Amino acid sequence: MTKFTVNDRPVEYKMDPQTPLLWALRDASNLTGTKYGCGVGDCGACMVLIDGEAIRSCLVTLGESEGRFVTTIEGISNDRSNPVQQAFVADNVPQCGYCISGIIIAANALLKQNNNPSDEDINAAITNLCRCGIYPRLRDSIKRAARVMRGEEKIAAAPPPGISPQDAAASVPAIRNISPRKADQ
Ligand code: FES
Ligand code: FES
Repeated sequence: MTKFTVNDRPVEYKMDPQTPLLWALRDASNLTGTKYGCGVGDCGACMVLIDGEAIRSCLVTLGESEGRFVTTIEGISNDRSNPVQQAFVADNVPQCGYCISGIIIAANALLKQNNNPSDEDINAAITNLCRCGIYPRLRDSIKRAARVMRGEEKIAAAPPPGISPQDAAASVPAIRNISPRKADQ
């Protein structure tokens, strides 16, 4: 049994310790905001924070996650207050949106280390692939998020989602109570 913390909740996975963390999060915990793109560490769609560092979860096993603190896109903010998410909404950064969870994770890791990144800093830190080619407005929006974090700009609250947080939680039980599926026990 592998024990660690996901989005501030202790979890135990009764799964093969060699299972990639990506599949435990998606299949056992129903945290489907973490995306599968390539499965070989190239695209970054599967990025999560592990002990604060942006990591490709397709390359990390459950066993390697033992005792660590994992944050998925669902745990980045529960009130839409994360500056990167606010800036991305305000700037219409997502196109199809498939890469966005991983990029938000990577951008948060970058801004925690450097709250005034240059284009070069962003290019070096955000190595995620985006098939829609959003890179120019992505860089501008990450710099905007940095200004918000530095207190130099405010962004009006994003419009409410089409589904209420309560209904979303009800339809995604893992948000309320992360636990392995019975079939995995
Ligand atoms: S799915 Fe993990 S890097 Fe592409
Ligand atoms: S917005 Fe479509 S893959 Fe990035």
